[in-house]
Amino acid sequence: MSGQIPQRFIDDLLARVDVVEVVGERVKLKKAGRNHSGLCPFHQEKSPSFTVSADKQFYHCFGCGAHGNALRFLMEYDKLRFPEAVEQLAGRLGMEVPREGADDPRAQARERKRKEGVNLLELSASFYRERLKMPEGEAARRYLADRGLSPEVQQTFGIGCAPAGWEALKRHLSERGIAEAVQIEYGLLIQHEESGRTYDRFRDRVMFPIRDVRGRTIAFGGRVLGDAKPKYLNSPETPVFHKGCELYGLFEARQANPRLERVVIVEGYMDVVALAQFGIRNAVATLGTSTSEEHLSRLFRMVSEVVFCFDGDRAGRQAATRALETVLPQMIDGRQARFMFLPEGEDPDTLVRREGPEAFEDRITCASPLSEFLFDHAAEGRDLATIEARERFASQVLAAIRQLPEGVLKSLLLGELSRRTGVDQSRFEALVTPREAPENEQRGPEAESVEEPVSRPEPGHGRGRQSLSLMGRVLQLLVHEPRLVERLPVEADWYPEADPEARLCREVERLLRAGRYRSAQVLLAHFHGTPEGERLATLARRELLIPAGARAAELDGLVEHFRRHRLRPSRQEEVDALLSKQQRGERLSQEDRQRLMVLLAELKG
Ligand code: UTP
Ligand code: MN
Repeated sequence: MSGQIPQRFIDDLLARVDVVEVVGERVKLKKAGRNHSGLCPFHQEKSPSFTVSADKQFYHCFGCGAHGNALRFLMEYDKLRFPEAVEQLAGRLGMEVPREGADDPRAQARERKRKEGVNLLELSASFYRERLKMPEGEAARRYLADRGLSPEVQQTFGIGCAPAGWEALKRHLSERGIAEAVQIEYGLLIQHEESGRTYDRFRDRVMFPIRDVRGRTIAFGGRVLGDAKPKYLNSPETPVFHKGCELYGLFEARQANPRLERVVIVEGYMDVVALAQFGIRNAVATLGTSTSEEHLSRLFRMVSEVVFCFDGDRAGRQAATRALETVLPQMIDGRQARFMFLPEGEDPDTLVRREGPEAFEDRITCASPLSEFLFDHAAEGRDLATIEARERFASQVLAAIRQLPEGVLKSLLLGELSRRTGVDQSRFEALVTPREAPENEQRGPEAESVEEPVSRPEPGHGRGRQSLSLMGRVLQLLVHEPRLVERLPVEADWYPEADPEARLCREVERLLRAGRYRSAQVLLAHFHGTPEGERLATLARRELLIPAGARAAELDGLVEHFRRHRLRPSRQEEVDALLSKQQRGERLSQEDRQRLMVLLAELKG
């Protein structure tokens, strides 16, 4: 950050930005009259006293007194310093922040330096791209072709190659008046410690430019053409490149879709590029590090959903555990995180080539919601029939829940944990709730439980979605756990007749029974591109908060409900059927006779 930002720019910025939008991306808001309201993000509360006014362009909390405009909100909420908040808002609007302040030469020098760095990196990127087209790029071109990368996708990602010599880039940059010291500073040139000789960092490699969200090249990743080590070489930390917060492919994903809602985090450069080539343009990769808090907070500013993609092996599961820990504190309502595991020995690059983009999309669609992964993970390797194992299971889940910000997700998970362990929810609440503000302290336990917004989780939460119809719940269960189809009665007479969702459900049942499918992917593929497919995909994405062990019973209960409901209007018919059976001389079973008695009593009453 350098130089003073002119006040008129700040005024202009605030005039263009909408505080409701800025706040709404981070806090769930409801329209209430002229204003919007929600739970205050700056203090603990259970009923909303936080309002945002579109007319006045400010927010105010009647509970804790927090108030301000969009800039203030960003500073408080995202913990940004003033110039950073200005940069952020300006970035959203595609505005460049002007600087004045001839009075601060140091700041000016810094700014010049930043420009110089970016310049030098752009020069290098085009140098690498040019080399790929020249005769010396032959081997790299062949390598890229062998890996099945189309010229279009190579161009989209600005892929190039570094020549084999020691000084190709150094000469190119030096001829253009760029000092070696600067080349070293930006990681392009390496200086040998003893001899002091300098040589290109990247030699004989395929080069992937790493761009920031605005498309400026800030670093490179280079891959060897063969099996030499290290396979990938990345730029070191430089004034413009901080490995722990940059994501490869984010700029390209936003270029492909400015309204990006979801990103998939994969491991490697090649994965991002291969997926893009197959039309899956929302993948990003960390740069050889695990996903950090900065990565996630950056992503969640732009999209509401993040899908982590891991290898199916042990390392993948470990990485998933780390990702879970990192993402928990960021799960404010409205955000979604999901986890997907690939078959062992595959990465997205190999898999999308083997099974095609639709199957891969279906895998994304079917990724486990955070809740499911959390419970499955805590249950792993434990025999939950024993009290001791349940205690450890609960402790692990509670430790995770404690990391969550206040919100609906937290309540739902607590409810779920209580159902899974048979321990009262209020017990768990006491264990995870941070000390209440003094004004709440005198509230008795009754008041607490009355105020508790959710006593029974509805599937799907947090994003203001409607609750599911009962038939929708049957469908959702089947989509999430196709094996449950075996629980459905063989006779299809329980389906309500006129319900279009029931028709879809019957069709799903038929397909599942015929194919003995164990995963919803085939199902989704079958309906792909139809309104039914849309519906099923939506259900697959919705969190299923019913514990695995209780799903069969839930399904039975739903079927039973439909059966009763369907029979109720025609009790007379049922009675007639039973009576005529008797009259034809057929024996009524014990059950039939009891049912008849009940029905007759009901009809009289
Ligand atoms: P992988 O080894 O999984 O590579 O490393 P990959 O993406 O499947 O590569 P291909 O398919 O063999 O080309 C995943 C990521 O880890 C980082 C890179 O960011 C890479 O994309 N990495 C890997 C390194 O930084 N250095 C290495 O030596 C290896
Ligand atoms: Mn790979």
